Amino acid sequence: MFDSKANSSHVLHVVGARPNFVKLAAVFTALKDRTIRQSIVHTGQHYDDDMSRIFFNQLGIPDPDFNLDVGSGSQAQQTSAIVSRFERVVIDARPALVMVYGDVNSTLAAALVCSKLLIPVAHVEAGLRSFDRTMPEEINRVLTDQMSSLLFTPSIDANRHLTKEGIPKAKVFLVGNVMIDTLKRLLPYVTADSTAELPEKYVLVTLHRPSNVDDTARLRQWLDTLEELSALLPVIFPVHPRTRQKILELGAHAHSATLQFCGPQPYLRFLWMEKNALCVITDSGGIQEETTFLGTPCLTVRDNTERPITIEMGTNVLVGLDRKRLKTEVEQIFIGFRKKGTIPPLWDGCAAERIASILSSQGL
Ligand code: UD1
Repeated sequence: MFDSKANSSHVLHVVGARPNFVKLAAVFTALKDRTIRQSIVHTGQHYDDDMSRIFFNQLGIPDPDFNLDVGSGSQAQQTSAIVSRFERVVIDARPALVMVYGDVNSTLAAALVCSKLLIPVAHVEAGLRSFDRTMPEEINRVLTDQMSSLLFTPSIDANRHLTKEGIPKAKVFLVGNVMIDTLKRLLPYVTADSTAELPEKYVLVTLHRPSNVDDTARLRQWLDTLEELSALLPVIFPVHPRTRQKILELGAHAHSATLQFCGPQPYLRFLWMEKNALCVITDSGGIQEETTFLGTPCLTVRDNTERPITIEMGTNVLVGLDRKRLKTEVEQIFIGFRKKGTIPPLWDGCAAERIASILSSQGL
């Protein structure tokens, strides 16, 4: 499948946002011991030190070879800036394969450029579907999968979706979850400074989906609910920059005596916080997976999830936008009724190794 004029053993990884870095770390590590040249393009979608540089350091990923510095913007601005800046890089590099990760704008933009240039794309975390086209991520998932030559899936539901969408089975490989590879590898390296100053029992919160935070009235309601919960036990809320902006817009009303706001946390510290939390309230995709692996109860404040396996097998409960239900679920967990789960097949720390073997078998 690889072009003979291409740089035959060169893999170019494209990443842009926090969860991409965690997935790249697994694949980069697995390919390191093979006779493959790897380089990294950082699109600059996430650029603050605490959203990017700290992750590269903790995950042991080398500095990017190229930084497109696109920064923030509307969906169209960000995606089109990546498309036009990435094209030059990929034409010059002529890699044998471009690897893209997850479902962010950087993923779609890179896949689009490569498909027009007839450069093969491998999509890591292919096939997930929420069936909710109001989320930009769902558009990114569907279109990236259509343009990919190799599709690496984390769970069997993803293979079923791809079959329904007409993707030939020969392109699709069930490899497991690369995010869990990184978690398993790095959890033993959590050090004292990552574990410091956590209460014995607490609820951990992350919210950053536009549907939850862009509407300040809805955000206000979530903050009120979290504040009510914080009368029961400490509630720790590492705030994503998108959410921080919206909380600032709420001004004085956002102040809370008991809710503990903090900035985005480094990877290792956050893993430790997830592992030891009484439960996690989130609208993130990756956190639904990490909590399932760690056995921590997860309450997802969305109407749908592209990761239903975390509900069917894991510790995840979809509470939707129902604030009363959220409170009841936390109270139940507090008095000892917590959902027990099992770890889905192939979430075993070896997903990226499987990817590496498949790439060799494809002649890379
Ligand atoms: C993006 C992904 C989302 C993923 C999330 C992980 C898309 C469509 N969304 O959402 O799927 O779950 O990353 O975090 O790709 N900002 C900063 N500093 C930064 C990065 C962002 O201040 O380093 C602020 C900017 O104001 C920006 C806003 O956060 O406008 C949102 O950033 P953006 O990358 O557009 O989307 P996320 O909400 O982070």
